[in-house]
Amino acid sequence: MTNNNPIGVFDSGIGGTSIWNAIHELLPNEKTIYLADSKNAPYGQRTKEEIVALSKKNVDFLLEQNCKLIVVACNTATTNAIRELRADYDIPFIGIEPAIKPAANNSKTQVIGILATKGTLNSELFNKTAEMFQNTKIIEQVGYGLVQLIEDGNLYSPEMTQLLESYLKPMIEANIDYLVLGCSHYPYLIPQIKKILPEHIQIIDSGEAVARQTQNVLREKAGFTDQPESEPIFYVNSNPAVLESILEYKYPVIEKDF
Ligand code: DGL
Repeated sequence: MTNNNPIGVFDSGIGGTSIWNAIHELLPNEKTIYLADSKNAPYGQRTKEEIVALSKKNVDFLLEQNCKLIVVACNTATTNAIRELRADYDIPFIGIEPAIKPAANNSKTQVIGILATKGTLNSELFNKTAEMFQNTKIIEQVGYGLVQLIEDGNLYSPEMTQLLESYLKPMIEANIDYLVLGCSHYPYLIPQIKKILPEHIQIIDSGEAVARQTQNVLREKAGFTDQPESEPIFYVNSNPAVLESILEYKYPVIEKDF
């Protein structure tokens, strides 16, 4: 089955570009539209109702552009709203959740750490998944302040280092051997995180798994494009300079109110 419509990808802001990168690498010919709702970030401190409403607004915008499939490139939106999105819209959705399973299954110390937003860690979906790994101690930490610093373009600030140290040191003391990055903004912090963690602690994020899942859903339901590679489209509703810089100025960014 051929389908030349675009894949839609959204996040509360620029972090989901870490997922978009993995999708674009695996499926370079697929046309993509990325939507950064930076004006309303962070989602992580919002109520479930707010997250559902914002997610629907983003989906409506992407459907106006005829997307054939939507990737919710945000753990907070997935864990709080994907059930509602699947119930209300008749297209395939792919979500992103903290990768507890590979971390718990491979952990030798049986202690793993998860850094995510408050909205993700409090969600029913996350807690149901975590309950499946009773033999593993899961140290949960809300990454207060991290998303805002990233959205403001302060990735390498002393404040960022200080916050990361305060969140990660207790995990190191508790003997974790895996750190799960449960927020799509956090892969951009890997260089800073590596400076804090001892080398034996593995860092896991979900980008590649989401890209593979996107490929599967295109194969089984939505259909692949038969066109050659086309330029991706990036929309943002506030502070376009930060999105441009995280994309290393390779692609144009359209500022638009949505
Ligand atoms: N990037 C999002 C996530 O994966 C949400 C960050 C936020 O807006 O709080 O959870």
